[in-house]
Amino acid sequence: MNVLITGVSFGLGKSLKNQYLDMGENVYGLSRTKVTDCNHKIFDLSILSDDIYSKVLKDLLEGQKYFDLVILNAGILGNIQKFNDVSMDDLDNIMNTNVFSNKLLLDNLYKMGVNIKQVVCISSGASQNTYKGWGGYSISKAALRMMMKVYSKDILETHFTSLAPGLVDTQMQKHLCNDVDVKEFPETSKFIESRDNGITRSSDEVAKDVVKIIPDLLDLESGSYIDLRME
Ligand SMILES: NC(=O)c1ccc[n+]([C@@H]2O[C@H](COP(=O)([O-])OP(=O)(O)OC[C@H]3O[C@@H](n4cnc5c(N)ncnc54)[C@H](OP(=O)(O)O)[C@@H]3O)[C@@H](O)[C@H]2O)c1
Repeated sequence: MNVLITGVSFGLGKSLKNQYLDMGENVYGLSRTKVTDCNHKIFDLSILSDDIYSKVLKDLLEGQKYFDLVILNAGILGNIQKFNDVSMDDLDNIMNTNVFSNKLLLDNLYKMGVNIKQVVCISSGASQNTYKGWGGYSISKAALRMMMKVYSKDILETHFTSLAPGLVDTQMQKHLCNDVDVKEFPETSKFIESRDNGITRSSDEVAKDVVKIIPDLLDLESGSYIDLRME
């Protein structure tokens, strides 16, 4: 099986990459940090240039024309701050990384004549609910979720799903629990409690469940959203 995963250097993406490698699958990955145990290119996905995407993907794929699975995992939370304080540069970075990078990735793969059976994007409960300080992230995850629905209408030969993994103990959660002022952003305490009560799960545990459920997602209508916690 050929699997392409974005954001394979840390967190959930790294655990997904490790699971597929353990299963003997052929894994391709992108991230800004070097990864040596799969086919990999160092790449900043937020640089939205068609020419650069085309070149990096050509170098990464080396002629590979079929993917069973593409997991759009790379994402950033951005600074937790009131939305009116978020600068346009920061918002651009969040939207470019979490949303538009995925358009350039998919469009360039299709342009290169690559056939893709299934795309799973890593979504979030924040695509439908938000917390104080989460403006940029929530907007990006809502847009990404809709973008998967849009692709599902246009590209019938690929199956698309948005999958929310629940709370995962990664750099993203560590930043949320350790660096955010709980007084100013009180809902952050929910994430600290979840970590302390063991509700937040390790990335390896979550990746195991994600890998297990991925084949079943093909039974859902293309463009669907699913929350792993509801399963
Ligand atoms: N953690 C949670 O509780 C949680 C909950 C719901 C959804 N999610 C979603 O799960 C996904 C993975 O998050 P995580 O918690 O595993 O985060 P993480 O530990 O911060 O890892 C993020 C990954 O994305 C890559 N990445 C970020 N910006 C990039 C860029 N500009 N170009 C290329 N790669 C980039 C990072 O690699 P480099 O830094 O090496 O580039 C890293 O491999 C995200 O989409 C996130 O929104 C997470």
